[in-house]
Amino acid sequence: MTAAARGLSLAAVRLSDVDLGLAHVLDEAEVARASTFRSPALRDAFLAGRIALRLHISALTGDSPESLEEHYLCPTCSSGQGHGIPRYRLPSRPGLLRVSLSRSGSWCVVAAALDDRIAGIGVDIENGSAADFEGFPSLAMTANERGQLEKVPPALKTRFQTRLWVRKEAVLKALGTGLAKAPSLVDVSGPTPSGLTGPPGRALWSLEDLSPAGLGLPGDFAASIATFAEIPHASRTMEYGHLPAGGP
Ligand SMILES: CC(C)(COP(=O)(O)OP(=O)(O)OC[C@H]1O[C@@H](n2cnc3c(N)ncnc32)[C@H](O)[C@@H]1OP(=O)(O)O)[C@@H](O)C(=O)NCCC(=O)NCCS
Repeated sequence: MTAAARGLSLAAVRLSDVDLGLAHVLDEAEVARASTFRSPALRDAFLAGRIALRLHISALTGDSPESLEEHYLCPTCSSGQGHGIPRYRLPSRPGLLRVSLSRSGSWCVVAAALDDRIAGIGVDIENGSAADFEGFPSLAMTANERGQLEKVPPALKTRFQTRLWVRKEAVLKALGTGLAKAPSLVDVSGPTPSGLTGPPGRALWSLEDLSPAGLGLPGDFAASIATFAEIPHASRTMEYGHLPAGGP
């Protein structure tokens, strides 16, 4: 079953294609956070991503982009100052809509969970070389993943690491911790993440590698989406992402 069939809506957006003149649709917390970026390029990328996210939600639900109230939740500082787990309150729906966003280079991907049973959603994209640095295996991989890496031909190791990395970030975003939880504690080499503790560890997880071409991203990108639903989940047909033989 595809992400779309599971009630997930995804879109890739080139950041430079976003009209920054639409920044008026953002709310105070978003504008305040934008003002904290010293680099104009990073500020513009932030604004473009947030505008793209609102436009995506608006296209899905019919709510105007400016009518969405952001309710971001940071599990570390609980400040709610426009950062952390992205959630929006919409005029057309009860509760909070769970969404996710990832930027890399000149691209961003936005995702929304239209199925209310989904309790966590995370999407992550990276270009080909993001996880290509010495020390990545000891910093970010579990012992099991490092064992798998040893069997990967040298020419494919960078790709293997990057695909593991986007899976980890997708899972840690869905969990809501981000990198406050050490990525080396979460094993994403199988069809569902392992190493998670607490109730989300017992939830119904879905972890899917996304095709860059299918999303409209350049071919050297890697992308993953992770969701979890609390058990019992009404849908018994949810499938998990299929990993290529021999690992990522
Ligand atoms: C989430 C995180 C892994 C993403 O990092 P990244 O790969 O550099 O950036 P991406 O572009 O892929 O993702 C950024 C998006 O992740 C989302 N995000 C941030 N924190 C999140 C969290 N705790 N849970 C879920 N999603 C989160 C936001 O949508 C953010 O978009 P924004 O910049 O518009 O706010 C990283 O920012 C992180 O670990 N943050 C938490 C760190 C923390 O606890 N800080 C304490 C602050 S008080």
